[in-house]
Amino acid sequence: MEQFIMKTKIYMGEACLLQLNSLGIRRAYIICDPFMEKSGKASEIEGLLEETGAQSRIFAKVVPDPTIEAVTQGIEGMEDFAPDTVIALGGGSAMDTAKAVCHLYAAMKQEQRPRLVAVPTTSGTGSEVTSFAVISDPEAQAKYPLKDPAMVPDVAFLDPVLTATVPSGITADTGMDVLTHGLEAYVSTQSGDFTDACAEKAVRMVWKYLEQAVIDGSNMDARTHMHNASCLAGIAFNGASLGICHSLAHALGARFHIPHGRSNAILLPHVITYNAGLEEAGETEALSRYVEIANLLGISAGTGKATVHGLIRQIRNLMKRIGIPEQVTELGIDREEFLQSVKSMAAKALEDGCTAANPRKPALKNLEDIYGRLCKGGLG
Ligand SMILES: NC(=O)c1ccc[n+]([C@@H]2O[C@H](COP(=O)([O-])OP(=O)(O)OC[C@H]3O[C@@H](n4cnc5c(N)ncnc54)[C@H](O)[C@@H]3O)[C@@H](O)[C@H]2O)c1
Ligand SMILES: [Fe+2]
Repeated sequence: MEQFIMKTKIYMGEACLLQLNSLGIRRAYIICDPFMEKSGKASEIEGLLEETGAQSRIFAKVVPDPTIEAVTQGIEGMEDFAPDTVIALGGGSAMDTAKAVCHLYAAMKQEQRPRLVAVPTTSGTGSEVTSFAVISDPEAQAKYPLKDPAMVPDVAFLDPVLTATVPSGITADTGMDVLTHGLEAYVSTQSGDFTDACAEKAVRMVWKYLEQAVIDGSNMDARTHMHNASCLAGIAFNGASLGICHSLAHALGARFHIPHGRSNAILLPHVITYNAGLEEAGETEALSRYVEIANLLGISAGTGKATVHGLIRQIRNLMKRIGIPEQVTELGIDREEFLQSVKSMAAKALEDGCTAANPRKPALKNLEDIYGRLCKGGLG
């Protein structure tokens, strides 16, 4: 038996955030990063809530790739405030922090968790509709995707106006995260008709709108579609899970502090090559799934493998046009240091929760080889 559950109420479109006041909030704990506080976005929400007499408190200590320590601080900050609602304002880092904070707070108090409202300000993670929260342990240089259906936010506001200030580099990185979510969900062993529908649409929207959003961040049409695509891809992978691109990206990001979307982007062409078995005799099951997606994007060649080569070529072209490099050395990472880390990163990736749904079961060596392709000369 299959199930498809989507419990988040989603508001979308320009200025939809104004509907926040229709939720009957009395005490809101706003979780965000320091930028959201400095730029005045957090206090805008405070001002909006004040109109109905609601009280609020801002916790602005979210860090990129949220740590256990930041989550603990977030819980401490809300203990004497007793909110009825937690508002996560920001990118994946703020939303994941808030999801973990809310969940652990309720577990500690042994009571129902406060209502969780997600307000994404990047178009990338889809965390506003997923049961995942990725938490980092800097000491172990590891990122752990926690998963619990109880962490799915109750309400999400997809207001593209909030994304207008995202710099082009972050727009590019987070947009590639959306593309990776769509593609991994589509080829996942847990995909189904419902998740496919969301994944296909998300991939097509990224294809059409990402470059426009990177080139002109004030293009509200492109921003709106990228914001919706991010959420649709989130719905897709919440149901279908992800794959080794994310497993490899988690370990890479934790070790070298590369932004999540960028880690996925540089790995994606190599992961598709491996999953589709492009350099091996015969055909893998995933090959035909990549062909379907390629065809949807108008890419087709004489054979399945030629078609998927075409898909990869076009992904690389897109990356070039939006300024994402192909090699880790172009990200300021020392080649020797990277190669020395390959074994431990591959071991972590193999254990990552996202590996289970990958269409091919990788051996440790396969993952090491994929990392090796991220710098010239490879593993030697
Ligand atoms: N929970 C999930 O389902 C899921 C899925 C994928 C990734 N993740 C996790 O999410 C995190 C990455 O999230 P992200 O890519 O959104 O990045 P992020 O939340 O770390 O934000 C990146 C940067 O963008 C800035 N920023 C955010 N919104 C902005 C705006 N409107 N204007 C200007 N600057 C803005 C932030 O201040 C920050 O400096 C990683 O930890 C990743 O592992 C979670
Ligand atoms: Fe992601």
